[in-house]
Amino acid sequence: MADIGTSQPKHIAIIMDGNGRWAKQRNQPRFMGHRAGVKAVENIVRVCAEKQLEVLSLFAFSSENWRRPEKEVSLLMDLFKLALKQQAKRLHKNNIRLRVIGDMSQFSISLQKQIVDAQTLTQDNTGMTLVVAANYGGRWDLTQAMQQLATDVAEGAFPASDISEQMISERLSIADLPEPDLFIRTGGEQRISNFLLWQLAYAEFYFTDTLWPDFDGAELAKATHSFTARERRFGRTSEQLIEDDANA
Ligand code: IPE
Ligand code: IPE
Ligand code: MG
Repeated sequence: MADIGTSQPKHIAIIMDGNGRWAKQRNQPRFMGHRAGVKAVENIVRVCAEKQLEVLSLFAFSSENWRRPEKEVSLLMDLFKLALKQQAKRLHKNNIRLRVIGDMSQFSISLQKQIVDAQTLTQDNTGMTLVVAANYGGRWDLTQAMQQLATDVAEGAFPASDISEQMISERLSIADLPEPDLFIRTGGEQRISNFLLWQLAYAEFYFTDTLWPDFDGAELAKATHSFTARERRFGRTSEQLIEDDANA
């Protein structure tokens, strides 16, 4: 398989949506859709790692998803635990580093322990970084960064007027990783649902009607082809980019 070159994304962030509708289409309970969704995760992680992607971020559970029926929430938690238990060793074997982002304090102690253990097991791996956003919200992330900054200011570390974009970025959950350059949302909705708000400032957005359990390597290839065909101008003009290219 060909390696991902310079024009390929380094960091793909995905909102995995459509599990419930996938199950409904089959007259199955929503839970079956989530189970099929976990299979799709395993496959996409493998495909991305093989393609030597640097970072894959997956939105697994949002800070708003607690609003779902209690039974669905508890089934999702069970599934998360099971997936961690079954997959941690496999991730490690494949040299993948796992990072879980979000407010862990809302999770059961046993789930928190499993997360810490899986992260510790894989922390020195040098292949792809897999970021799983669980009880994550972009606003939560920004809020906790602001709290850190406010504490520093109150302790006299620096005046509030010194706060810069970089200082905010540095305090966000995945500050040490490249920002997502390709954002994918499956399941037909075209919204960000409080995912990585700050970090997606310059990402290319790709939406597909494909429901998450059906999202496979071929679907991912469509998204990356769309990405490579785009011109990323970062505020500059097309002519400037062509000039830069000629001088490179
Ligand atoms: C995404 O699928 C999975 C989670 C939010 C955990 P949904 O469960 O939102 O599926 P739809 O949108 O109802 O089809
Ligand atoms: C977003 O999906 C969150 C995850 C995929 C984990 P939702 O299905 O919860 O999003 P909304 O509520 O339709 O915006
Ligand atoms: Mg949904």
